[in-house]
Amino acid sequence: MSEIRAALVGACGKMGSLIIRRILATDGIVLSAAFDLVNIGADVGEVIGAGKLNVPVSDSKDLSSVLKETKTDVLIDFTIAPATAVNAPAAATAGVNLIIGTTGLTAEQKTNITDAVIKNNVAAVISSNYSIGVGVFFKLIKDAAKYLGNDYDVEIIEAHHNQKKDAPSGTAMTAAEIISKEMGGKDLVFGREGLCPRGKEIGIHAVRGGDIVGDHTVMFIGNSERIELHHQAHSREIFVGGAVMAAKWVASQKKGVVYEMSDVLN
Ligand SMILES: NC(=O)c1ccc[n+]([C@@H]2O[C@H](COP(=O)([O-])OP(=O)(O)OC[C@H]3O[C@@H](n4cnc5c(N)ncnc54)[C@H](O)[C@@H]3O)[C@@H](O)[C@H]2O)c1
Repeated sequence: MSEIRAALVGACGKMGSLIIRRILATDGIVLSAAFDLVNIGADVGEVIGAGKLNVPVSDSKDLSSVLKETKTDVLIDFTIAPATAVNAPAAATAGVNLIIGTTGLTAEQKTNITDAVIKNNVAAVISSNYSIGVGVFFKLIKDAAKYLGNDYDVEIIEAHHNQKKDAPSGTAMTAAEIISKEMGGKDLVFGREGLCPRGKEIGIHAVRGGDIVGDHTVMFIGNSERIELHHQAHSREIFVGGAVMAAKWVASQKKGVVYEMSDVLN
């Protein structure tokens, strides 16, 4: 297959700039366009310190026309939920496949994106976590939930850097969904304060501070023992590699489908 032409929304952000650098270093994929709210008109390579790339930072208001002009195959979006809620359906309408890394999307926003993917017959990967290790972590917690069942209380603790805008993390929410499904349905309780006797629930707690890249602990707590499964991201590079892998993968998949990272890894 010919080279995949990939564009970034959130190109000047922490994830966007690392993904552009990885695209530059990866065979079979090229950077076609870059979008952000800041540095509009500047060369994106110069903005991220990668040298001149002759790809300007475009305003996401011009997303559809720029994607068409640059013959983009796939749009990679790592921004914030309200931005993705607008940009992802616009890209799908322009016939462009999607890799969505933005977390904090509401159920309604996800449904709208899925509808646009189906209606416009493109393919998408939406994942709260593009790391390979977290793919395995999700499998392990699913097994633990299956074997331990409702005799064990479940608590999820996540920790991230002090710049993270949404809480709890998308990964913590995905973990809770996996466990709840396996245990036949649980309420989610976010932090606790005051009188709050424990019910049929999964407790979710968010820690924010310093430069923590991303820690997730799932505790299965019984009466005389507990199991704790812990994943720790040492660097954003683990998400970057997975996102670029997904971008190369998605372009050749069956259209009209929203995939998960587990589909890419399988
Ligand atoms: N799925 C994963 O594996 C994974 C991993 C890390 C981070 N994330 C998520 O990715 C997102 C970005 O994280 P980050 O650390 O790079 O944040 P960041 O704040 O460093 O970067 C976000 C960028 O998006 C830009 N932006 C905001 N609104 C925009 C709009 N309407 N159009 C164009 N650009 C816009 C901002 O200007 C900024 O440059 C967050 O939701 C974060 O939780 C996901």
